[in-house]
Amino acid sequence: MKVASSLSDLRSTRLSLDGTVGLVPTMGYLHEGHLSLVRQAKAECDHVIVTIFVNPAQFGPNEDLSKYPRDLERDLSLLRPLGVDVVWTPSAEIMYPPGYQTWVEVEALTKGLEGAMRPGHFRGVTTVVSKLFNATQPHKAYFGQKDAQQAAVIRQMTRDLNFPIEIVVCPTQREVDGLAMSSRNKYLNEAERKAATVLFRALSAAKELYEAGERDAEKLRGRMKEVLASEPPAQMQYVSCADYDTLEELDMVKGKTLLSMAVFVGKTRLIDNFVLG
Ligand code: PAJ
Repeated sequence: MKVASSLSDLRSTRLSLDGTVGLVPTMGYLHEGHLSLVRQAKAECDHVIVTIFVNPAQFGPNEDLSKYPRDLERDLSLLRPLGVDVVWTPSAEIMYPPGYQTWVEVEALTKGLEGAMRPGHFRGVTTVVSKLFNATQPHKAYFGQKDAQQAAVIRQMTRDLNFPIEIVVCPTQREVDGLAMSSRNKYLNEAERKAATVLFRALSAAKELYEAGERDAEKLRGRMKEVLASEPPAQMQYVSCADYDTLEELDMVKGKTLLSMAVFVGKTRLIDNFVLG
């Protein structure tokens, strides 16, 4: 496994790879969610490149950039047994050299949900992912359903900018009690960790209603709010029942639908979602 940090090192290594290349972009502090993307890439491509870069441009001024967890040695030891070919760990100076002024922005799809709560977040994501695509020239790139809006925005960007890359969205990996795996879960204390299962419980309750035939989107949102309200350490930021492709809020559910939510558990902000239909 080649570990590259400079761009020239990455480029010369990339040139030496014959056949198809799968890219898994990450911000490190890897868990089973990330590793599931790597395994899928490995199964579908001749070579796998993983990038580890905590992207300052996607963090808001009040977000956790400086305390975002990092442990490169641990990440590398998790990737080695999976047969990853290249790990690229660029510095902030490589990604955003002094005087940097070029940004990639997806419009309507980034206005709601996470985009509304985290202004500028998706501009940071789409800019860095474009740069990672350009640097690594993959045939396929792997993203998690856990970050549903991110996956939708990247699909849109890839179409709009004619990147010759197939975007593969992989299922959300969960702990045994349903909590979606996330690097942020490590911030939860014991009581908060227990309360954090409320996201999964709220989504499951709404899905149950849907499976019993309910199609009124407001009723599904209401059910999620009810379950969230029953767990006081959890403070809802939003719940949504939206069209899977446009992410527009629905009145009536028909076709592929995204149930999603953002919830503070103590000071930790968690997101989760289910896809219906
Ligand atoms: P990060 O949060 O490190 O996540 C990297 C990838 O892992 C994303 O595609 C994310 O959706 C996926 N992932 C995270 N938790 C998952 C889970 N429980 N199950 C399945 N997949 C999961 O997302 C980012 O980094 C950044 O925004 C990035 C795309 C790297 C751009 O900076």
